[in-house]
Amino acid sequence: MKIVMVGSGYVGLVSGACLADFGHDIVCIDKDPAKIDKLNKGEMPIFEPGLADLVAKNVDAGRLSFTTDLPSAIEGAGAIFIGVGTPSRRGDGHADLSYVYGVAEEIGASLKHAAVIVTKSTVPVGTGDEVERILRASGTAQKFSVVSNPEFLREGAAIGDFKRPDRIVIGAEDEFGREVMREVYRPLFLNESPIHFTSRRSAELIKYGANAFLAAKITFINEMADLCERAGGDIQEVARGIGLDNRIGSKFLHPGPGYGGSCFPKDTLALLKTAEDYGSPLQLIEAVVKVNESRKRAMGRKVIDALGGAQAARGKRVTLLGLTFKPNTDDMRDSPALAVAQVLTDAGVELIAYDPEGMEQAQPMMPHVTMSTSPYAAIEGADAIVLITEWDAFRALDLKRVKELVRAPVMVDLRNVYDPAEMRAAGFTYVSIGR
Ligand code: UDX
Ligand code: UDX
Repeated sequence: MKIVMVGSGYVGLVSGACLADFGHDIVCIDKDPAKIDKLNKGEMPIFEPGLADLVAKNVDAGRLSFTTDLPSAIEGAGAIFIGVGTPSRRGDGHADLSYVYGVAEEIGASLKHAAVIVTKSTVPVGTGDEVERILRASGTAQKFSVVSNPEFLREGAAIGDFKRPDRIVIGAEDEFGREVMREVYRPLFLNESPIHFTSRRSAELIKYGANAFLAAKITFINEMADLCERAGGDIQEVARGIGLDNRIGSKFLHPGPGYGGSCFPKDTLALLKTAEDYGSPLQLIEAVVKVNESRKRAMGRKVIDALGGAQAARGKRVTLLGLTFKPNTDDMRDSPALAVAQVLTDAGVELIAYDPEGMEQAQPMMPHVTMSTSPYAAIEGADAIVLITEWDAFRALDLKRVKELVRAPVMVDLRNVYDPAEMRAAGFTYVSIGR
């Protein structure tokens, strides 16, 4: 089937390339000409493991192309996906749907045949109804169906998540919508990925509910880590013991500096707004958002304590290892490193950082931070090292070499990558989470 993917960002580009790999004919659209130019030159606008090869293979096979011209691209397309950004609106945390609605208008104005319009972006409950209204109001004479098909892709693992999903969620209001979506995902039928057909509104709520639940699970283990520090528990042992209960599961029970990224922070806020609008507050998620926000800054204070307090910290030199919100991505959106760096900068600490992929995106967001060329170069002369993102490059540092490079052997490990006993034996003052 010919399929159009509007929006070629982390979600649209990965989804388009994977659908092409399933054998569909995909046209990825973006309003940003620079992005389309890069893609037509085989350059990736984002870092996602495996994406460059997947795109090249499908472009060579003639199944994947890129354009800024939506009207001509949608001709003959059985499904038109909307995968544009739905960022938090300035100030009130509502999802900014102006891009989604703008694309819906453009589609309505250019549609010349029956097609299914699919909201792939994470959109608040009821958005599908509004997209349908916009399409009707556009005066198109064509038969169409608006379907919700939320994505559950994790950055850094997006291709695997797309090709081997735990489930596919399709929110459709008619048989035409369901029929076309079965065709779109037929290749996944083959490997028995469950397709969950439901109503549009339920599908929209499933997406927010899933992300909010995952954010709550992480926040739960982060608070248990704080308790462990005071009650003398080891959070790694506690998390493992809890996670062995198969009703709970061991995933997303890793303590850290708080969750970040382009989804959890934005989606939890948007869900709270929806709950407020419908007069049904989600008090648990309200607490999750509050706790997570304050945790990121608390991690900055943890570093100041490790430096001997506010007075002692002033003028000290601290190395940040990892800036992105998680490993294997270049995405800095809502990364905890931003809040940690701000607290330290405000305390008069001099910051040097290294991140394998994120420094280009990070520098304009962290003007006071000096970006370095390697972990060891960044570590030179440091009064403390802070491990913020658990990139593989930071998992097996040569501790002898680190000890020789630093001014003071202090490490604050916000991802519990290292072992306390091993660090003490190596002569480090070692601070970690929940241990
Ligand atoms: C975003 C949201 O973060 C995610 O929650 C939602 O599920 C999908 O959209 P992401 O792909 O990360 O995911 O957004 P982004 O990387 O900003 O990509 C959006 C792309 O759409 C950008 O390349 C932007 O240029 C493009 N775009 C935006 C259009 O092509 N047309 C528009 O009108 C607006
Ligand atoms: C998430 C959801 O997992 C995905 O299903 C949805 O489609 C988009 O949002 P993503 O934001 O890419 O994916 O990353 P994820 O791996 O979920 O991590 C999100 C944040 O939680 C990161 O900051 C990560 O460091 C943190 N995290 C994750 C923890 O602190 N502990 C964990 O155990 C897991």
